[in-house]
Amino acid sequence: MSQPIRVMGICGTYDLQSANGRILEIILDQCGELGAEVTIWDHGANPLPLVGAQGSWEDENVRQFQSMATDSDAYVLSSPEYHGTMSGVMKNSLDWLYSKHTSGKVFGLVSTLGGQSSNNTLNHMRIAARWIHGWVIPEQVAVANIKKAFNENGEINDEAVRDRISALSRSIVENTKKLRR
Ligand SMILES: Cc1cc2nc3c(=O)[nH]c(=O)nc-3n(C[C@H](O)[C@H](O)[C@H](O)COP(=O)(O)O)c2cc1C
Repeated sequence: MSQPIRVMGICGTYDLQSANGRILEIILDQCGELGAEVTIWDHGANPLPLVGAQGSWEDENVRQFQSMATDSDAYVLSSPEYHGTMSGVMKNSLDWLYSKHTSGKVFGLVSTLGGQSSNNTLNHMRIAARWIHGWVIPEQVAVANIKKAFNENGEINDEAVRDRISALSRSIVENTKKLRR
């Protein structure tokens, strides 16, 4: 039997308990239920320096982040929308990844917004993932009006959003199995 696929979650904030962190957790749980091994990079515990900051090229967290990416078959990028684009934490995470880590691997995208829905962050992450030779799946989810998005158990209120997230998770697992080298 072949090895299970490995899916790595990258959160767009330092806090995994944030809204986009919770959405990431839901997606990774679903990928796990579908048979994937899942892992997540914790920026709070292991922050990445800004690319080019003093000492950044020899930073141990960067080395471990890149190693986790190399060992993964797919990625879930979850970012809040800040000023119409991805967060700085997400952009800097992507800046530490090169095609040697990510080429030919699947990317799934999700964003959270304080206001109304927009595809800006999703489109910008799609462009960046393409630049590091990722295969970005067509399914994607923007979770708008984020303060009203969850019930008291941390589950998503809107059934249509829940369905889109499930479809995203299924597509990540199915397409990663097809593309894995
Ligand atoms: C600096 C900053 C800029 C923001 N810009 C936007 C924006 O352009 N559009 C929007 O809908 N929400 C905006 N927000 C709200 C965030 O998208 C929202 O707080 C976030 O998605 C919540 O998820 P989190 O708990 O994971 O951070 C902004 C928030 C911050 C802190």
